[in-house]
Amino acid sequence: MMRAASPSATSTWQGQSTVWQVSEAGASGANDYSGLMADEPREYRTGSDPRTLRDALGCFATGVTIVTCIDGDGKPVGFTANSFTSVSLDPPLLLVCIHKSAACAPCLTDASHFAVNVLQNEQQPASIRFSTRDQDRFGSTPWSEGEFGPPILKDSLGVFECERFEVHEGGDHHIVVGKVLKASFDASLDPLLYFRGSYRRLHFD
Ligand SMILES: Cc1cc2nc3c(=O)[nH]c(=O)nc-3n(C[C@H](O)[C@H](O)[C@H](O)COP(=O)(O)O)c2cc1C
Repeated sequence: MMRAASPSATSTWQGQSTVWQVSEAGASGANDYSGLMADEPREYRTGSDPRTLRDALGCFATGVTIVTCIDGDGKPVGFTANSFTSVSLDPPLLLVCIHKSAACAPCLTDASHFAVNVLQNEQQPASIRFSTRDQDRFGSTPWSEGEFGPPILKDSLGVFECERFEVHEGGDHHIVVGKVLKASFDASLDPLLYFRGSYRRLHFD
């Protein structure tokens, strides 16, 4: 029997053709998507419903980051991103994709420096705050200025401070490539994960 997918969305971000649906599942992360996707193979073709493409992309489990920089007025800005990818070791490059309609897109693509804060499993509230409009993102999140200027979120699992290397067009997103100037991490922390529209945590048997 076909079941309607009804995730407990707490905030929804919709760009021109991309939808990020956020569910506050607990550590198990189970929601109605999991049954639907396990039972019913689904298929996307160019031009069909972009939500099916989003669900297909959501099968790729990721970590969660908050990308930060300083705007032209000297104020900190940042947004939640799971498009973070390593690119090259020599030179040391990484990338993040930001939707062109995001409020902080002009700032991030102009900024000389930015930071990628990799979140640990206690930072789900920060992830929600930095993916929800009209939140006091930095007022409620302890942070400090990084060595190269961008905001560093306290207690992150890892931090990459970057200088802007290149910005590419990527359809409805900008692909922002950064050269890593400094990377630091706390190997004792576990990551916050994201899979099929829900926050997840590592499970060890
Ligand atoms: C887990 C998660 C990952 C996300 N990853 C991205 C991303 O990689 N790129 C992007 O443009 N938006 C992403 N979003 C949506 C942005 O965080 C959200 O649209 C943000 O509020 C944009 O902020 P702004 O428009 O206020 O700048 C993600 C949201 C969540 C919950």
